[in-house]
Amino acid sequence: FKIAIFASGRGSNFAAIVNQIKSGQIKAQISLLISDKEDAPVLNRPEAEGIESLFIDPASFNNQTAYENYLIKLLQKAEIDLIVLAGYMRILSPVFVSQFKNKIINIHPALLPAFKGLHAQQQAVDYGVKYSGCTVHFVDQGMDTGPIILQAVVEVKADDSAADLAARILVEEHRIYPAAVKFLTENRIKITGRKVKIIKEE
Ligand code: GRF
Repeated sequence: FKIAIFASGRGSNFAAIVNQIKSGQIKAQISLLISDKEDAPVLNRPEAEGIESLFIDPASFNNQTAYENYLIKLLQKAEIDLIVLAGYMRILSPVFVSQFKNKIINIHPALLPAFKGLHAQQQAVDYGVKYSGCTVHFVDQGMDTGPIILQAVVEVKADDSAADLAARILVEEHRIYPAAVKFLTENRIKITGRKVKIIKEE
């Protein structure tokens, strides 16, 4: 089972998934790590050692279509089974998404459908919700709208800053993102419309 990770930043979710592969919890390989940011810390993480890691500069292409076509070719050549977006700060076009139907997943730091888009933790703090969390979902053509695979809840405390809440959510991200990847590699996820069912282990 071959995975490509797309990341633009820190890469802590990438690291969490790599660690579960290394420990044998997830039976898969990360064939590609792709970043759209040259200075993304993820590219220099120790966990990236031994993984084909590429900075692909969107600005070096004429347009988004050309950039994405290049990615599609790379992914097809590597026979990728799953694309894992881990802090990848670009929106993939409907054409790209339809090429990999139900083969792209994302993690969002809120309980979708609440607080879509950027700065989800700040949005939650500002709104005054008492609970927030994170969501692993399939990527469809909307933003943060695809079928939900897993969610985890955390408490929002009265004096939380967005950073406090983000740190509490991140702990759960590192738990549920690898879990979702594991279910997918084991072919234990069934999608019917918006409903995602996780099949019990035999
Ligand atoms: C996480 O908060 C994730 O929910 C969001 O982007 C952040 C990525 O963090 N999509 P990291 O790069 O995995 O550390």
